[in-house]
Amino acid sequence: MSRLIVANWKMHFSPAEAEAYTHKLNEMVSPASGTEVVICPPFIDIASVSNGLDKQKFKLGAQNIHQADEGAYTGEVSGAMLAGMVDYVILGHSERRTYFHEDDKVISAKIAAALRHGIKPILCVGENLVQFQHNLGRKVVVDQLEADLAMITAEEIGSLSIAYEPIWAIGTGNFAKPANVQPVVDAIRDCITQLYGRAATDLVKVLYGGSVEADNAGAYLALPGVDGLLVGGASLNAHKFSEIVSAAG
Ligand code: PGA
Repeated sequence: MSRLIVANWKMHFSPAEAEAYTHKLNEMVSPASGTEVVICPPFIDIASVSNGLDKQKFKLGAQNIHQADEGAYTGEVSGAMLAGMVDYVILGHSERRTYFHEDDKVISAKIAAALRHGIKPILCVGENLVQFQHNLGRKVVVDQLEADLAMITAEEIGSLSIAYEPIWAIGTGNFAKPANVQPVVDAIRDCITQLYGRAATDLVKVLYGGSVEADNAGAYLALPGVDGLLVGGASLNAHKFSEIVSAAG
């Protein structure tokens, strides 16, 4: 199966900075054939990144959408507005769940909205530190999947990627041991198989995210059932990001 490497810039780079960084990425990052690399800038940067980005090498993604197509939602951006501009959208990120109080019902509606507009969702799931310490990772992730995918059909599921991101590993440098990632990845695949059947599961990409760096990327990509990576901090450094992309192929 092909690989998927996703760069989540979070709230970094003005449009001018994003433009300059895009040129660096074009020069320095060389995805192998079969590796899809998705750049997810803040909304304000999407136009400038889109203009400069080498579309042979990269796809573009958003970090969020609103679940409605239009309306009185001050400060929000809809999937309808982004249709045709981005190929992917990150949804259910733990920072959105925590700081913006997005619950599974909202996330499920956002996934449906993305699919309605031909945007492929990258759904993030993962347990917090206390849950990890109580060995609840698999349960938390399965509960999230069952709730977040409530509106998604077997025909649609193949458009989704699922990123397993232990919350305690995000932005902390405290990355998860591959041996701890494997059982959760297996639980994600088992859950999708139970909900949608074997054939559908084979179409779903499962990613790992949380303090991914050049020197640990290969270990996650070597795990059976892991198809790619969701990269935050290290995606803001073209040298580091190019090494991570190279680890994929
Ligand atoms: P990180 O972020 O690589 O900085 O840990 C990953 C993410 O939040 O997607």
